[in-house]
Amino acid sequence: MSAFLEERVLSVHHWTDRLFSFTTTRDPALRFSNGHFTMIGLRVDGKPLLRAYSIVSANYEEHLEFLSIKVPDGPLTSRLQHIQVGDTIIVGKKPTGTLLIDYLLPGKRLYLLGTGTGLAPFLSVVRDPETYEKFEEVVVVHGVREVAELAYHQLLSEDLAKDELLGEVVAGKLKYYPTVTREPFRNQGRMTDLIENGKLFTDLGVPPLDPAVDRVMICGSPAMLRDLKRLLEERQFKEGNTTKPGDFVIERAFVEQ
Ligand code: A2P
Repeated sequence: MSAFLEERVLSVHHWTDRLFSFTTTRDPALRFSNGHFTMIGLRVDGKPLLRAYSIVSANYEEHLEFLSIKVPDGPLTSRLQHIQVGDTIIVGKKPTGTLLIDYLLPGKRLYLLGTGTGLAPFLSVVRDPETYEKFEEVVVVHGVREVAELAYHQLLSEDLAKDELLGEVVAGKLKYYPTVTREPFRNQGRMTDLIENGKLFTDLGVPPLDPAVDRVMICGSPAMLRDLKRLLEERQFKEGNTTKPGDFVIERAFVEQ
C-alpha cells in the first residue's frame, strides 16, 4: 500500500512573490491533530519529492490547507508554486509534531509565536474549540519582514471573530499581534525584542511572561527558535515534548525547500 494519498488542488492564493497558500481535497481517512505537520509534495519523474508542511486547516474541516514560501531554486517549491486548481499533490498518511495543546501543562494564557510560514500550525490551533476550553486567552504573534507577508491577517483580525461556529468561542479570547521588521507598521520589531523590552505586553495590556500562568508554542527559523527558547528558559519555562508536557513547545518552520 502506498504511504501517500493523492489529493486534488482546490484553490491557490499567492500572498506575495515569496509566499502562497493552497487548499486540497482531503481523504477522510487522513486523521491529524491541530498543530500537526505532514509530508507533502509532487511526483517528479515518477518519484515522490516531499517536504514537511504544517497543516493550516483544522482537523474537522473537509479540505486540507498549506502555506508555503517560494524558493526559486528549491527542489520542491520551485515546482509547487506553479500548481493550479485540478492538479494532484501527494500527502503523507502520518501527520505528527509537537505543537499540540496536549503537550502543554494547564495554563491561563497561550502564546502562539510564529515568524514567516511558522504561523501555519497556529491557524489550525486557533480554530480548535478545545484550545479555548483549555486557555482563557490565546495570543497569536506573527512576525514578518514586510506587511504583505502578514498572511491570514484578515482571518485573524476579523473573520474568526465573526465565524458562525467559532465566533462565540473566540470572541474576547483571541488576540492577534502582527509585527513587521523591515517596513513601517503599527507594530514593529522582532518578537524577541518586543518580549525583552516588554512592549508586546504593554501593547496587549497583559503582564510579562510568567511560567505560572503562561504557555507558549514557537514555530520559526532555527535562529528564532534558539533565541526564543533561551529567552523562555531564562524565565524558568520548561520545554515539553510528545512524551512529557511542559510550559512551552517548539517546532521548526519547514522553510528551506
Ligand atoms: P528581520 O527582518 O529582523 O530578520 P524570515 O522571512 O527571514 O523567516 O523572517 C521572518 C521574520 O522573523 C522577520 O521579521 C525577521 O526579522 C524575524 N526574525 C529573524 N530571525 C529572528 C530571530 N532570531 N528572532 C526573532 N525574530 C527573527
